[in-house]
Amino acid sequence: MQNIAKFSAFLEERLSQYSFPNHPSNLYDPLRYFMQLGGKRMRPMLTLMAAELFGKQKDDAIHAAISVEFFHNFSLIHDDIMDGAPLRRTQPTVHNKWNLPIAILSGDVLLVNAYQELCKQEKKHIPELIELFSKTAVEVCEGQQLDMDFESKNDVSISDYIEMIRLKTSVLLGCALEMGAIIGDANTEQRKLIYTFGEQLGIAFQIQDDILDLYADPKKFGKQVGGDVVVNKKTILLLKAIELASDEQRKLLHDLLQETNLEEKVKQVRDLFDEIGVKSEAQKMMQQHQNAALNALKEIDSSDEAKSVLVELADFLFTREV
Ligand code: IPE
Ligand code: IPE
Ligand code: MG
Ligand code: MG
Ligand code: MG
Repeated sequence: MQNIAKFSAFLEERLSQYSFPNHPSNLYDPLRYFMQLGGKRMRPMLTLMAAELFGKQKDDAIHAAISVEFFHNFSLIHDDIMDGAPLRRTQPTVHNKWNLPIAILSGDVLLVNAYQELCKQEKKHIPELIELFSKTAVEVCEGQQLDMDFESKNDVSISDYIEMIRLKTSVLLGCALEMGAIIGDANTEQRKLIYTFGEQLGIAFQIQDDILDLYADPKKFGKQVGGDVVVNKKTILLLKAIELASDEQRKLLHDLLQETNLEEKVKQVRDLFDEIGVKSEAQKMMQQHQNAALNALKEIDSSDEAKSVLVELADFLFTREV
């Protein structure tokens, strides 16, 4: 953890130097609030780590790192609206603490701020950075739309699901890493490998997120436990349950999806998932993608020593409780 701690301390220091304007306060207070809630800061750390892997200093990639964290926070403010989420990082979500129009607009300005930060990188890298970042941003929106469409769709396959989470979650990890590689002037092949590392890590990360959504300790998790079940998200748990259930279990599951007593719904769905043995199946899938990520990392042309902090971060992500 010592390695990760260095990146984290550097990043927090630089983030704390960033200040949002005071006026209009209803636009910027939510952003100060949300950014100060912290989070794991995984994506900007990936950018800094990738830049170092390809021979640069943390400082050389700091604006790209802040940019990716701004984008991530923008996507969370809007995601919480879409998912009707009451809690984020143990505190009320922006649309709950303020209101819906404020959450939309403050999210929007944070997206623009992300571009402004990115444009502070060295001039020669900006076109490639913007191109990658924009492509990624569009893909995240596509993934988010699929995620919402799937709530009311009953024939979502596991491969539909993987593609949906690749878009909504993984591409941003790939992008965060590849931006570091661009800044490090890495060649196309190396850029591709580090992107694949992020893409596979991201798929594993979202599978883990789905598992935690139902199984995390509510005191530690910081988000509403069971939120995905409440809105019938097609998570890996639900899809595996549908695949592995007996006819009787499938009928019960189908009935439970219509249950209106939400507390009861979450409890009974969890009991049924336990009976079917869904959690360990999901964990197996997560492990496969984690391994695929590590295999891509192995192929990168740098020393094991230089890669070790990325391996450490990947390990840490899968022991997390939030
Ligand atoms: C939450 O991401 C959104 C997902 C893609 C699952 P994180 O779990 O990285 O959120 P924070 O930034 O640490 O709160
Ligand atoms: C979020 O997925 C993905 C994006 C924000 C783009 P989730 O909806 O599962 O994330 P959480 O669980 O709210 O953090
Ligand atoms: Mg959500
Ligand atoms: Mg969501
Ligand atoms: Mg989730």
